[in-house]
Amino acid sequence: MRFGALGTSSIAWRRALPTLASAPGIDLVAVAGRSPEKTGRFAARFGCEASAPEALLERDDLDAVYISLPTSLHHAWTAEALRAGKHVLVEKPIAVDAAEARDLVRLAEARDLVLRENFMFLHHPQHSAVADLLAKGRLGEPSALHSAFCIPPLPPDDIRYVAELGGGALLDVGVYPLRAACLLLGGGLRVAGATLRTRASDGLDLSGQALLVSPSGVLADIGFGFEHSYRSSYSLWGDRARLTVDRAFTPPPAYQPTLVLEEQDHVEHFTLPAADQLRRCFTDFAEAVRTGGAASAPEEIRRRDDAVACMELVDAIREQALRVPVADRP
Ligand SMILES: NC(=O)c1ccc[n+]([C@@H]2O[C@H](COP(=O)([O-])OP(=O)(O)OC[C@H]3O[C@@H](n4cnc5c(N)ncnc54)[C@H](OP(=O)(O)O)[C@@H]3O)[C@@H](O)[C@H]2O)c1
Repeated sequence: MRFGALGTSSIAWRRALPTLASAPGIDLVAVAGRSPEKTGRFAARFGCEASAPEALLERDDLDAVYISLPTSLHHAWTAEALRAGKHVLVEKPIAVDAAEARDLVRLAEARDLVLRENFMFLHHPQHSAVADLLAKGRLGEPSALHSAFCIPPLPPDDIRYVAELGGGALLDVGVYPLRAACLLLGGGLRVAGATLRTRASDGLDLSGQALLVSPSGVLADIGFGFEHSYRSSYSLWGDRARLTVDRAFTPPPAYQPTLVLEEQDHVEHFTLPAADQLRRCFTDFAEAVRTGGAASAPEEIRRRDDAVACMELVDAIREQALRVPVADRP
């Protein structure tokens, strides 16, 4: 599996490329960015070639491209890469809205190429352990899901504060609990209500909450934002017990997650083996490329459907949200 990387981003430097460059069966061939000097530094560190973005996609020695540009550029560059015949792993979120996501899905299907977004948490086995406990009836009948991904304020020049680059808390962190709701409650979720705290000067969303309803009537409330101490968790609540996953979205590779099952008179802890969800994300992607038949493979169809469903929820939240302007931070 020969990969090219498009974007000299922070996530590429800190996490993605060190993992990609050391993953078994994967060869990082070239990296491309808008600054030749910075691209050269990336190439030197990861032992690959430096390229310009357009030239990267023209290379015929690449099977796939990993894209870590600002979110507003995901659609254009992912579309270019698919048209050039490359499989694509694009950073989350796949695009800025459902129309863009659907367009990319159509392109990937027409060319029988793998198109995935880099939601690492989907590759952590702790969520299969949750599904097992649910299937065994340990929670009883679930009726509620609570989930949040919140982080403290970022440096003022961060791309997440620039609306034109796809900034805002909903697109950056809100998509995690939305995607968790799709994973745990299945398709067909609807938005019953939402609020967004927005920056008074330009309306950029800094944090928010949404209430979702599943087709079977499970209620999910989700929270997200750049205005809180760190939290990345979910609880699934049934009539027998409540199951909580702390560090749901970003468990470090060496971290052994503990699931907490709370019954009325009894608390049980399940400590699970550590897992490197990013490495699994890359190796699973490579396996999907090797297997082929992405257009009709059930796993790929499910991932593409979930990517679009998540962006439809983003659109619905934007449409319905009661906006609460807050003063800009000094
Ligand atoms: N999966 C995850 O856990 C995870 C974690 C973090 C981020 N992400 C995603 O990864 C993406 C990048 O995030 P980041 O925090 O790594 O961002 P970042 O460090 O700011 O990197 C953004 C990249 O885009 C380039 N860029 C910035 N503005 C541009 C413009 N106007 N035109 C063209 N290129 C531009 C930058 O170029 P220069 O290098 O030349 O400045 C840089 O290579 C986002 O979509 C984010 O949601 C995912």
